[in-house]
Amino acid sequence: MIIIQEVSKQFKDRKTYVTALKHISFDVKKGEVVGLLGENGAGKTTLLRSIATLITPSSGSISVDGYDSIKQASEVKKRIGVLFGGETGLYDRLTAKENLEYFAVLYGMSRHEKKVRIEELAVMFGMKDYLNRKVGAFSKGMRQKVAISRALIHNPGIILFDEPTTGLDITSSNIFRQLIHELKAKGKTIIFSSHIMEEVQMLCDSVVMVHKGEVVYKGDLEGLYHEEASRDLNYIFMSKLVRGKSHVS
Ligand SMILES: Nc1ncnc2c1ncn2[C@@H]1O[C@H](COP(=O)(O)OP(=O)(O)O)[C@@H](O)[C@H]1O
Ligand SMILES: [Mg+2]
Repeated sequence: MIIIQEVSKQFKDRKTYVTALKHISFDVKKGEVVGLLGENGAGKTTLLRSIATLITPSSGSISVDGYDSIKQASEVKKRIGVLFGGETGLYDRLTAKENLEYFAVLYGMSRHEKKVRIEELAVMFGMKDYLNRKVGAFSKGMRQKVAISRALIHNPGIILFDEPTTGLDITSSNIFRQLIHELKAKGKTIIFSSHIMEEVQMLCDSVVMVHKGEVVYKGDLEGLYHEEASRDLNYIFMSKLVRGKSHVS
């Protein structure tokens, strides 16, 4: 379970401050798949980075399975897998297997654990034939598979994906969506940001909409449809953005 309480974040940009998050509060239950929605600059990446302990909120607190994201960051890190859009964090000169081994070592996995897990992931993603090839020559879809495997190497209970399908072709996007289904079936807790409404509609139990650093909706999709008297997520999204925070549930 993730509990986010009154999280705010200001970035110092030369002499001015940019407020990226304002008093964000919401919970994510174990096994819940949450879609994080919001236009560019809304604060999605900042929020995901804060949960992942990659940045420290200016105020407020985040608790992950009972561990505090600032005071017990290493416990939180163990429980979370992250994949941030655009940056795969892979080493081109290493093979897929070497990349995965490198991250397994960072997570303190034993030789045996490492071997079993890499095998498991290779089967899951159909990349056994690619394990001993250098990542530098891989297609975008294949790189994405290795990057996702890397994020899942320590078998985390919670997974954060920042715009995972942005820039992917349809085949790779579909593989990703299938993966979310499988992870959900395994009881994983997932938060992913997306611009693609169909994707959110297909995969998420609930949505969090952020606008200018504030949560303008958190709840299930049915509740949102009911509240807005519409099932068109694109329409709802636009109308939420226009009306701002007045309709927080
Ligand atoms: N390291 C940073 N330094 C200064 N401003 C930042 C930094 N990271 C993000 N911001 C600002 O915070 C706001 C939220 O950014 P971000 O979380 O990346 O939004 P999103 O992922 O929803 O597009 C934006 O105004 C952005 O310019
Ligand atoms: Mg972003």
